[in-house]
Amino acid sequence: MNNAASGGEPTDPNGHLPDVQRAVEILLAAHHCAALTGAGISAESGVPTFRGKDGLWTKQGEPPPNQYRLFQDDPAAWWRRLQARREDPDELATALAEAVPNDAHFALAELERLGVLKHTITQNVDGLHRLAGSARLTEIHGNRALLRCTRCNDRRPFDEIPEALPPHCERCHGLLKPDTVMFGEPIPRDTLVAAMAEAGRADCMLLIGTTALVSPAADLAWEAYSRGAPLIEINLDPTVISDRCAVAIHGKAGEILPRIVDRLKRRLPAAP
Ligand code: OAD
Repeated sequence: MNNAASGGEPTDPNGHLPDVQRAVEILLAAHHCAALTGAGISAESGVPTFRGKDGLWTKQGEPPPNQYRLFQDDPAAWWRRLQARREDPDELATALAEAVPNDAHFALAELERLGVLKHTITQNVDGLHRLAGSARLTEIHGNRALLRCTRCNDRRPFDEIPEALPPHCERCHGLLKPDTVMFGEPIPRDTLVAAMAEAGRADCMLLIGTTALVSPAADLAWEAYSRGAPLIEINLDPTVISDRCAVAIHGKAGEILPRIVDRLKRRLPAAP
């Protein structure tokens, strides 16, 4: 059944249409829209979230806060433990290894290609935004497929555990670690500067699948809000920032985002 008022779209069983339309208007009015994404955007790719009903930490408890200290104290032992875990992967490692981008990742990449989305800042280490085609991207918590030098921040592919443990940077001989930011580890300066610059110039911010609880990523959203940039939230559940959002749509990112992009495309001039 079609609804004439919705432009021939199927009827809107969850009642999101006015919010989707409002999100489209905000995106069309923006000059520098940024997105901040969290674990929820990859949930439909089978990657477990951290918090919430089915969250990894809800089931297993939060990991200890001193992971980075453990790494610094004895990097060789830390690397050997990682080697053992790779041979016997846990639920998260298995899910990450098998995950492919979902419709929400592809919709964001398309929004970037359309010139509407200028940058994506993700807290996810799964690399799914890259795989979906997002090019203007800051992975604020790192990327699981990369190694990073703790001294010069040079990054290189992380396919296998290096032979000599702990591994060192070929450029500066600094210690190498996985690019993924550990508990207790500061965000690498180059990444933080890039994320802050992008968020600082955003005149609209999409918040997708994030609790907006973890700093400094969440601060980027609050900072944009405090400058008057309208926030568009897409999340399964209300969050601490929902009340401040110009539009808060509560549903699956993989369903809502493609609808926003679809309606937005109808308003853009057709490509020559
Ligand atoms: P969380 O796991 O805390 O929250 C996931 C959010 O996604 C929740 O608000 C869910 O309601 C929402 N969600 C779940 N499924 C969804 C779906 N299909 N569509 C839309 N929303 C959905 O994840 P983050 O807020 O991203 O950092 O967590 C931030 C950081 O906490 C992580 O990057 C991690 C952790 O500390 C590090 O490990 C460094």
